[in-house]
Amino acid sequence: MINVMIIGGGGREHALTWKISLSPLVEKILVVPGNDGMTGMAKVEICKLNTDHQQVIQLAQKNMIDLVVIGPEKPLSEGLVDVLIDYGIAVVGPGKTASKLESSKLFSKIFMQENNIPTARYESFTNSSDAISALDRWNMNNGIVVKTDELAQGKGVVVTHDYDEAKKTILDFMNNPECSVKSDSIIIEEKLSGREVSAFALSDGDTFVPLGYACDYKRLHDGDKGPNTGGMGCYTPDEWPSLDMKNFINERIFKKVVDGMKETGNPYKGIIFAGLMIDNDNINVLEFNVRFGDPEAQVLLPIMEEDIVPLLMASANGTLGDFKSHIAGKSKLKAVHVVMSSHGYPSIDSTPMLLEQKINIENKTKNSHLFFAGVRRNENGDLVNTGGRVLGVTSIGETIDEAKKSAYAGISKIHFNKAHWRKDVGNI
Ligand code: AMP
Ligand code: GLY
Repeated sequence: MINVMIIGGGGREHALTWKISLSPLVEKILVVPGNDGMTGMAKVEICKLNTDHQQVIQLAQKNMIDLVVIGPEKPLSEGLVDVLIDYGIAVVGPGKTASKLESSKLFSKIFMQENNIPTARYESFTNSSDAISALDRWNMNNGIVVKTDELAQGKGVVVTHDYDEAKKTILDFMNNPECSVKSDSIIIEEKLSGREVSAFALSDGDTFVPLGYACDYKRLHDGDKGPNTGGMGCYTPDEWPSLDMKNFINERIFKKVVDGMKETGNPYKGIIFAGLMIDNDNINVLEFNVRFGDPEAQVLLPIMEEDIVPLLMASANGTLGDFKSHIAGKSKLKAVHVVMSSHGYPSIDSTPMLLEQKINIENKTKNSHLFFAGVRRNENGDLVNTGGRVLGVTSIGETIDEAKKSAYAGISKIHFNKAHWRKDVGNI
């Protein structure tokens, strides 16, 4: 029996905690910092410490942790994996350098170019006048995408539609002190069209196993309107991508990441999340993330048939080759996840969130799961919302339609002041 530590406190980490808690191999799970919605789960303890490296090490040693699973990108980009490995603690996730696949868009684009991974054409700039002059070289009829090099919590990517918007975005990112995103290094990228999908694999630095596909709803409002968010909902696509596409994604994307990182001397261990744009048969990588998606994890984990713990341990120990026959998406089940967010999300300077309302829902049914994110318990022990994405309901079913109906039935039982959710998740 092993003890597992999970780093993070959102819906993704609640889903990971739930899935890992089902494993007969696991005795105890310590979630750092977790959230108050995760309390009361069998085997699970919440530890509200921040994820300062030395505190994590001490906590892991004190609790005899055998495996650490890191949810969010921030501790990965800060090198928590390297520190854990120095202390001999097994961990799922890439080290600081390999994490640059997500934390630096430029690193990621150069890596894709060098390894012949299909992606949009781009140019990089370190000052705004060069970037603006370069716009003349780009066909602005299709629009272009402006991206900051570094992590910007989803605010560092703007899909622009004409010259003026592109110029304004460049000036905002590079020269405007009022803009919430500030960068000295940006990328201009060809705008791609098609259908987006998030593809997942798990690597041990040497080989990988595919974990499945999910479609995320990034915009706040129905019909893909409104600002970009972390993700307002998700579903597992039906009969798509095709088998040929999946083979292409495995060979031309995941394999190249694993081989390419190994060659640089920074083997990639952990979850590889490829954000893809698929236009008919044409597949391009929009971005890499170095972790599970939130809310993609909330649909992929509930339909995963097997125990995830042996796979995670094999990623950490370099023995994933034993799982070569693992088939992603073996389950015929479909899943839909609907997120409820607080009023004002994703804006940071919105009116204060209303905290006084109690959330009323029976915890779960056989085919539905309630995963918490932005919640805490008040003085009376009731859950209240603390902002951002508050929670989400995942339902599974034989069809997306069945899963969708059930997820929305779950959502209809939950109430808190000024809750927001999309009504069109799973409408394909
Ligand atoms: P990223 O953080 O790079 O995935 O970008 C966030 C979102 O911006 C993506 O999910 C896409 O919807 C959009 N996006 C990014 N790059 C492009 C591109 N080259 N063409 C079209 N849309 C893009
Ligand atoms: N849902 C997108 C992400 O986790 O980045």
